Amino acid sequence: MRHAVDLTGRVAIVTGANSGIGRGVALELARAGAKVVVNHRPNEDSERRGNEVVQSITDAGGEALAVAADISQEADVEQLFLTASAHFQSIDILVNNAGIEQPAAIQDMTLAQWQKVIDTNLTGQFLCARQAARAFLARAPTPPSDTAVGKIIFISSVHEVIPWAFQANYAASKGGVSLLMQSLAQELAPMKIRVNSVAPGAIRTPINAPAWNTPESLASLLKLIPYGRIGEPEDVARAVAWLASDDSDYVTGTTLFVDGGMTLYPEFRGAG
Ligand code: BGC
Repeated sequence: MRHAVDLTGRVAIVTGANSGIGRGVALELARAGAKVVVNHRPNEDSERRGNEVVQSITDAGGEALAVAADISQEADVEQLFLTASAHFQSIDILVNNAGIEQPAAIQDMTLAQWQKVIDTNLTGQFLCARQAARAFLARAPTPPSDTAVGKIIFISSVHEVIPWAFQANYAASKGGVSLLMQSLAQELAPMKIRVNSVAPGAIRTPINAPAWNTPESLASLLKLIPYGRIGEPEDVARAVAWLASDDSDYVTGTTLFVDGGMTLYPEFRGAG
């Protein structure tokens, strides 16, 4: 695939970049020329995988840094941004990706399951967006430029609009992300900070492996996807790279669905 967007010299923080969509985004931004901060959770396995992503980027001639931080923790987020700006001098792009699922029937869902998902998927995205806004706003005005001084990209989900039984915590977090993103976009546009979301559908990553890792589950998943295939992290990553680039300079407050048509109510084809 051709790489049209140019992020040469830009610095991007990608949260949850050790696996899945975050990993794909980190690799894609690096391919486009960005220096990438590969955030991962502070545990051994995530650290190993974060370091592997950094290695792939540096092997290909790029620049990257792995930084451990639990993005649901205020102090960790502050430290993540301090480390990133100490290493790379500035921050131009935040990709607010880290997210988790804790499925349960509502009658069995514990407060801990509810809280954990909201803390990571919504509060964590707030904490990182706030820190990015602070960094962008503190930057000394650069010579007159017609393009944005900073970009925030939320990784949301089709479940910011599609209700999701047994994942009420997750759907609520993503519904929250939708208005968080739009409110920040409205608030920060006059300061030339662009804020958008990418809302993936079913993407082949570890988070949803049971939905695609047997022929039966894949067949039932494909009934929900008019385009007839599962998504790959690169499908999402290319959309993120475009939103992170100046090619999308007039785009703010938008959710770009990357879902093979999952939000088109495919069960209504020939029905209803
Ligand atoms: C979830 C996946 C799910 C997809 C489509 C995503 O937000 O993380 O588990 O397959 O939505 O339902």
